[in-house]
Amino acid sequence: MHIEHNISLKSFNTFGIDVKAKHFVSISNIEYLKKVLLLKDYPDKLILGGGSNMLLTKNQDSLVIHINLKGISIISEDEDFAIVKANAGENWHEFVLWCLNNNFGGLENMSLIPGNVGTAPIQNIGAYGVELKDLFVSCETLSLEYKTFETFNKADCNFGYRNSIFKQKAKGKYIITSVTFKLSKRNHKLFTKYGAITSQLEVMRIKHPSIQNISQAVIAIRESKLPNPKDIGNSGSFFKNPVISKAQYSLLEKSFQNIPCYPVSDDTVKVPAGWLIETAGFKGKRLGNYGVHKNQALVLVNYGNAKGSDILNLSKLIQKTIKRLFNIFIEAEVNIL
Ligand code: EPU
Repeated sequence: MHIEHNISLKSFNTFGIDVKAKHFVSISNIEYLKKVLLLKDYPDKLILGGGSNMLLTKNQDSLVIHINLKGISIISEDEDFAIVKANAGENWHEFVLWCLNNNFGGLENMSLIPGNVGTAPIQNIGAYGVELKDLFVSCETLSLEYKTFETFNKADCNFGYRNSIFKQKAKGKYIITSVTFKLSKRNHKLFTKYGAITSQLEVMRIKHPSIQNISQAVIAIRESKLPNPKDIGNSGSFFKNPVISKAQYSLLEKSFQNIPCYPVSDDTVKVPAGWLIETAGFKGKRLGNYGVHKNQALVLVNYGNAKGSDILNLSKLIQKTIKRLFNIFIEAEVNIL
């Protein structure tokens, strides 16, 4: 068993925060994973996937288990659909590209989302009108408590906006080892209505887009406004878009005539946190080594060697200011560790 000690986690989190793991193990085999869970010497464990949805604010004293399970397979297929299983350690975007190379449709709007397949269901990743849950069939897990394998079907997962059972009562209790999707092989259902996609396809002069064209459009949009973690450390959207009552929205509209919103239910709407943060004056603000991205106010960035605690303090200042100005609490989307 190859357990390492005092390992820097800098290259294992997309924020690029340099904290240390007291103990660290990388896992590429499920049986080995089970053995590691049975180790008595390390009662506290931290499961690490692509490290794309976390802000590390301190050295980690637990055993950090890096899930590096690889492999993609077609479980079954007919003329219309393919059931495809990807192991948890596959990079999400590379998996999306694999699907597109096979002409399997469904995941194209979620091109270029950072992170790994195994962490995608936890926050039900989504972009441009499509969420993981729309294509999800099931995921296989290993219970941290019982060391048994358990399958979660879609209904078991309780998916919501950036939410699932793995953020609720199953939080911290399971390791997702693989995810299975149902993807189309023909008559692909295209989601091109999202404003930015429609205009990007026009720029690309594409009238009848293929699933590959949609992926190209999404990649172009994301590259134009979201920083690539390889160049500037970040964790995508730092905050969730808040849901408020229509009554509160009407009140806010009196002071802020151009406040955008999307309908959620009969009496609630979702307000883009990016707009709130930009209106509060934080967009593009830089404090030394860290700040708020210049093209997308929802994204906090590490320009190099920032401390996780600095970024956490900035996020708290933003939350406090938004609360004071709009009486809205914006919840962090990333996990603070
Ligand atoms: N906006 C601003 N200023 C900004 C950013 C946004 O005013 O700096 C306003 C604009 O009105 C814009 C609206 O917010 O029209 C919506 O912006 P955008 O389409 O970029 O979407 P978002 O709400 O900021 C969400 C997801 C993204 C996802 C996009 C596209 C959340 C928390 N974020 O962002 O997901 O890519 O929609 O579907 O729901 C992620 O989770 O890491 C992520 C990047």
